[in-house]
Amino acid sequence: MSRVETLIDRCRAAGQGHVLAHWDGLRPKQQANLLAQLDGLDFELLKTLQGLIRQGVPTASSQTFVPPDVFPLVRDDTQQREAARAVLEGERLQAEGKVGFVLVAGGQGSRLGYDGPKGCFEVGPLSGRTLFGWHAARLLAGRARYGGGGPWYIMTSATNDAATRAFFEEQDFFGMDPDDVFFFTQRMLPALDLEGRILLSAPDSLFLAPNGHGGTLEALASSGALAHASARGVELLSYFQVDSPVARPTDPLFLGLHSLASAQMSSKVVKKRSADEKVGVLGLVDGALGCIEYSDLPDDLRGATAPNGELLFHAGNIANHILNVEFVEQLTSSGLNLPWHVARKTMQVFDPEEGQRACDGVKFETFVFDALGQSKNSVTLEVDRRTEFSPVKNAAGSDSPQTCRADMANTFAEWVVAAGGDLPAQGPDGFPLIEVDPRVAECRQEFLDLWPLQAEDLGGGQLYS
Ligand code: UD1
Repeated sequence: MSRVETLIDRCRAAGQGHVLAHWDGLRPKQQANLLAQLDGLDFELLKTLQGLIRQGVPTASSQTFVPPDVFPLVRDDTQQREAARAVLEGERLQAEGKVGFVLVAGGQGSRLGYDGPKGCFEVGPLSGRTLFGWHAARLLAGRARYGGGGPWYIMTSATNDAATRAFFEEQDFFGMDPDDVFFFTQRMLPALDLEGRILLSAPDSLFLAPNGHGGTLEALASSGALAHASARGVELLSYFQVDSPVARPTDPLFLGLHSLASAQMSSKVVKKRSADEKVGVLGLVDGALGCIEYSDLPDDLRGATAPNGELLFHAGNIANHILNVEFVEQLTSSGLNLPWHVARKTMQVFDPEEGQRACDGVKFETFVFDALGQSKNSVTLEVDRRTEFSPVKNAAGSDSPQTCRADMANTFAEWVVAAGGDLPAQGPDGFPLIEVDPRVAECRQEFLDLWPLQAEDLGGGQLYS
């Protein structure tokens, strides 16, 4: 039996024969494309996914939620001493090269409406530095401050991998040693219609979507990144998302608290701005630590308050985690066991009989924070939103390029005022044109310690670099 016949048989047996119904009308190149995708299909997994559509996933209303223990931003004396000890531990871990960095940049950025890898998007309030550029500058800053220089693992997906690598080449790896940058791609999964039939996006292509950031763990293992980390003596992975240029992956406090608590996976959170802010919240879900997505938190709990008037579920997930290399090895050694999340969407699909048309279907993802429940110990550290969380998610309104640039510039302005310096004029967007390179300072105290500093005049703004 030929390769094609075998595949046709397999697809038919799995109830997916329709994806090859137009086979004879395809050109050889198109046939080869489709064949390659079908060859890579995991038919066992497909069965599981089809089952999910039929059964549905457990609904949030059937679960119990309890707020987590949080290491707070405002600390008593004991906590301050603990924090001081943790900073030293976090610095030591980095100096000894025990920390690697994992950036997830495989998402499609559809809400931003940007046609390219999101990391190439420019957000510097003055310099126009890209998201990738900010992250690279922070890692370089960490290398300069603490030494060590653990590798940077960057997860892309099939849709943006080539463009991401080309961008890094073009930018000369932002001054990093290319040997320290390891790209890996996450798996793509087929979207299904509501009857569990595979959808096509074009005559020669299945409708494929990234398998969610839970796929990072699996891809770290299958790409060889985990083995690479072990060989380089890396014990902890500092995980962060591409969309927030102010994330601080080298933060010694976070690394140190995690290590001193003998934790396997830890998280940073910020106080939610309001009940309706669209961030997930950390909490105990049916007794196990996890993250409850904003859309899943029942209305009565979303607005519930503690006796001090604060939101009960205020620990907003900013998707910065520390994971032990050993923990990821353990999670992935016999297949990743994370729950599936099913997202129902209307998609533009290719129908062999009708051509392009809209169709209701489902995409499947796993989420990295679902691994928290399997972590032996875990630290949840509250951080200052203004200096650590300002994501670019939407084209306009909240969490947009505009709010992100304003947040950064206003923070930098506050540092300069605190140091007794003069501010530049307001820019056209209502914030002072000011920027501080992370290699100069990443927080207010570092900036104040270095004062007086000389700013470069850039288009009427102040650049501290
Ligand atoms: C996410 C979190 C939410 C958190 C918020 C903070 C989820 C489901 N929710 O929301 O709890 O409060 O961030 O900003 O993640 N990505 C991949 N591959 C994928 C999917 C996503 O690499 O298959 C990456 C994206 O590039 C991005 C990040 O994961 O860096 C977040 O994905 P996104 O879909 O934007 O999550 P949010 O809904 O914003």
